[in-house]
Order: sequence, then C-alpha cells, then structure tokens
Amino acid sequence: MHFHINPNITQAHTLPGEFYRSESIFSKVVEKIFVHSWHYAADASDLRSNISIKPITLLPGVLDEPILFTRDKNGETHCMSNVCTHRGMILIEEDSKSKIISCKYHGRCFRLNGSFKSMPGFEQAEGFPCEDDNLPHIPFAEWAGMLFTSLRPTVSFEEIIQPIQERLSFLPLDTMVFDASRSKDYYVDANWALYCDNYLEGLHIPFVHPALNANLDFENYTYEIYPYCNLQLGIGNGQADKFEIPKGHQDHGKDVYAYYYFVFPNLMLNFYTWGLSINVVMPTSHKTTLVRFRTYLYPDATTRFEDSPIDQTEMEDEWVVERVQKGIQSRMYKKGRFSPSMEQGVHHFHQLISRFMEE
Ligand code: FES
Ligand SMILES: [Fe+2]
Repeated sequence: MHFHINPNITQAHTLPGEFYRSESIFSKVVEKIFVHSWHYAADASDLRSNISIKPITLLPGVLDEPILFTRDKNGETHCMSNVCTHRGMILIEEDSKSKIISCKYHGRCFRLNGSFKSMPGFEQAEGFPCEDDNLPHIPFAEWAGMLFTSLRPTVSFEEIIQPIQERLSFLPLDTMVFDASRSKDYYVDANWALYCDNYLEGLHIPFVHPALNANLDFENYTYEIYPYCNLQLGIGNGQADKFEIPKGHQDHGKDVYAYYYFVFPNLMLNFYTWGLSINVVMPTSHKTTLVRFRTYLYPDATTRFEDSPIDQTEMEDEWVVERVQKGIQSRMYKKGRFSPSMEQGVHHFHQLISRFMEE
C-alpha cells in the first residue's frame, strides 16, 4: 500500500483511514520508522547517581529491544546490547552499581564498555575471544540531560535536534532537573499517529482546550517546518507567563508562552518558562499507545509549574483522540484534507511517514 502525500498542502489529502486501522501496516511502520528513529531512553542523571548500569527495553511489546546504558569509571557513557553474545541470555534486568556485566547463565563477563572480559570453559576455543564476543554498541546521544538511542539511525541525532538547539540557545537547558513527582504515564486507546496528528495542530485549541485557549493569542499562533522537526510557537495573551528573550534573537519582542516542538516520529518537546515537558508517544500496538510525560524544571521554577494547565489539556486531548480512534474505524471514512494555514505540522508529519514507508 502506498501513501503518497502531495507536497502542496492546498491540494494534499491526509493519510487514509487504513493507515491508522491496519495491524499489518503498523508492523511495517515499526520496521520502516521506529527501527530507524531516535528514542528517548532515560534521564542522564540516572547514570550520574550511583548507578553504573541501566537496562532499558525499547518500545516494550513493539520493538522489544533489550539495551544497556553504562557509565564507566572515567565517566564515559556507553550504549550496547543487553543480550549475552554466548547463547543470547538477557544480561541485566535491574539498575545496578556493578563494575562488571556478568551473565547469570554461564558466567561470561563484560567490561562496562561492552568488551569481553572472561568466560569459563573456553580455554580450548580457537580464535576466541574475537570482536563478535563483545556486546554490540548501539548509537546514542546525550542532550539537555536526556539520553536518546536509535537501532539503525538514517539521520544523526545532531542533525535532527540542531534547529531546536539553535533557537533555544538562550535557555540554560543543561541546568534543568528531572522531576519524577511531576511525571506521569497516560494510556490512550488510540493509534499512536492519531495522538501525534492531534498534537501537531492548534486548530482544535479553541474547541477542545478552553483553559489553554485563554493563555494563548490564537491569531498569532505560528507553524515552522524543519527537516525532521517542526515548531508551533505559542504566543501568549499578555497575561500568561512569557520567556525573556535576549536582544538580537529572532523572537525578541514576541510574547512567547511556549515553544512546542515535535521531533519525528514520536517525541514532543514543550518548552515553558519553568522548564520542559516532554511527551514520548510509545505505540504498544496498532490501537493502543502509552504516552510518557516527563517533567524537567529549572532550579527556581516550581511555583510557575503549578499554574500550568497541562493535566487538564492532556485529558481533553485524550478525550478527542479516543473518539477519533472510534470514528476512523468507520467504513465511511476515507481520508481528509489539511487546513493550509493551521495544519502544516500534520502535513509535514504525514509527508515524513510516507517517505519513510517508501524508503
Ligand atoms: S548465555 Fe551468557 S554465558 Fe551463556
Ligand atoms: Fe490539544
């Protein structure tokens, strides 16, 4: 099945209903998109405390890839497979302080950089150990206190994140601290891409989010498209909290309430004056999604966080997305059109999906 999206938004149609409904199309999405994309994996401070080994499963139930993050005695971070190179045992199941990775099956040991260290019973094995006996390394990136990884990246993390890094260079991103008490998981009965579609446009804000709408100046809400991310610039109504933006910056003089960045395919980075709310949209099947909200705060910003209507906004979004999930099952629904002025982000998302599916 082909998903061509007309690059001209004034003529384009959205992805067809089939894309969101079909289990077999979803399996292709996993192989064509999620295997190659960058995933939020963990908070970097997890490894900075006294933990030296952190196991992670990438997209549980969907990719199910067992991964290890480690930090060695020189403070260097590594990312590697969590599968023993002997007979395939899962190596580590819980955060650990150990200085060695040892397999519980037959005792093979690895160093924190993934290299083979020792193994009983292999004295007579020839050509052993060799490169294949080390744990395979997996590409990763550390940015703004977060760790990202990708199994087979087609684009570097730096290239994807560069427009965001540049635009927000006036913010002390490295001082943000992860706040577990303000982080939460949401389970949504809908296809992951419907959740993203909804995030990518402000057209629904006046209809679905009365409280948020009161903070935003809807007339001045703008969309900007970059190769692998896009930005919705939330302009405040004069009363809401706003960023202090230095002279010379392209947003100086604007009343910016929030920078809403979408990073293809499933990451949302919402920058507010108090810090960052990230939403990781994790498909758990073709019709269910886990959305992890992780909050990062600047050291002095707690009170401003309390004022923000994030939880209410999330409930309103889930309400509408779950109803679209039902509606899109209809035999009567084929596909839609885009608002040329307010759905550029959705159009961009659909174009990237179609490109990755065809590569
Ligand atoms: S599977 Fe790990 S030592 Fe055998
Ligand atoms: Fe919304």
